[in-house]
Amino acid sequence: MTDNTKMAVVTGANRGIGLEITRQLAGKGWQVAACCRDINQGAAVLKPLQDQGLQIELRKLDVTRSGDCQALVKWLQTGEQQVHALINNAGVLLDNQVDGSADPLQLDPTMAMETFNINTLGALRMIQALAPQLAEGARVVNVSSGMGQLASMGDGYLAYRMSKTALNALTKVMAAKLANIPGGAKIRVNAACPGWVRTGMGGQNADRNVSQGADTIVWLASSDDITTSGGFYRDRKPIDW
Ligand SMILES: NC(=O)c1ccc[n+]([C@@H]2O[C@H](COP(=O)([O-])OP(=O)(O)OC[C@H]3O[C@@H](n4cnc5c(N)ncnc54)[C@H](OP(=O)(O)O)[C@@H]3O)[C@@H](O)[C@H]2O)c1
Repeated sequence: MTDNTKMAVVTGANRGIGLEITRQLAGKGWQVAACCRDINQGAAVLKPLQDQGLQIELRKLDVTRSGDCQALVKWLQTGEQQVHALINNAGVLLDNQVDGSADPLQLDPTMAMETFNINTLGALRMIQALAPQLAEGARVVNVSSGMGQLASMGDGYLAYRMSKTALNALTKVMAAKLANIPGGAKIRVNAACPGWVRTGMGGQNADRNVSQGADTIVWLASSDDITTSGGFYRDRKPIDW
């Protein structure tokens, strides 16, 4: 690794959009800490990319476990490694797995709490843990969803929608907070909707492939064009909250 190699941390890196974000950033010459909750599955999936010479380090991390977040920070500190991009990608859509419906009148609040714990508080744990490791000009990208847009709420998938609306709130608050840390490190925090993407979550009828889904996220993480913070983007353009 050269001194000016940039480091990205990606959660949920073992499949779907997270795996593609990892592949794209590593392809740009970044070092990527690919965080997976199942280390064996992650190792199997990432090996072909590592064999191509991409700088991908597998880390075991479940975003519901603060201890895992702290272990990641310790590993970064041991390597005196700052983080240039944190991609909070890990997420679940549990609404239609419990009773086969996504009816808000049938929503089990326990399932909503589980969704919130992963989709929203997972990003909070990661930002809190990694804030001291963020480099000047670092980016935080929260992978949100159009289903969290207050401007276009439908009537189903209540747990998922609430978790992503709350993730958007977290994005705005952290953008304000991290803009004002001592030393003015110019950290930019934005949210992105990948669109409807063919993954385990999106299903095979989705209209985008993972490359299209990862594009705006990787752009927010790595492009010199990004000068704003506290925005919500799809297809590299701001969208309504
Ligand atoms: N696909 C779409 O159409 C779409 C649309 C809008 C937004 N999004 C968002 O895009 C992100 C990625 O979704 P995807 O479509 O790639 O979904 P996916 O294929 O289902 O992958 C989800 C990833 O999140 C990980 N994950 C789940 N719970 C976790 C936890 N507690 N700790 C760590 N990792 C965890 C999964 O790990 P395991 O393999 O261990 O389960 C997996 O790597 C999500 O935030 C999702 O809400 C997706």
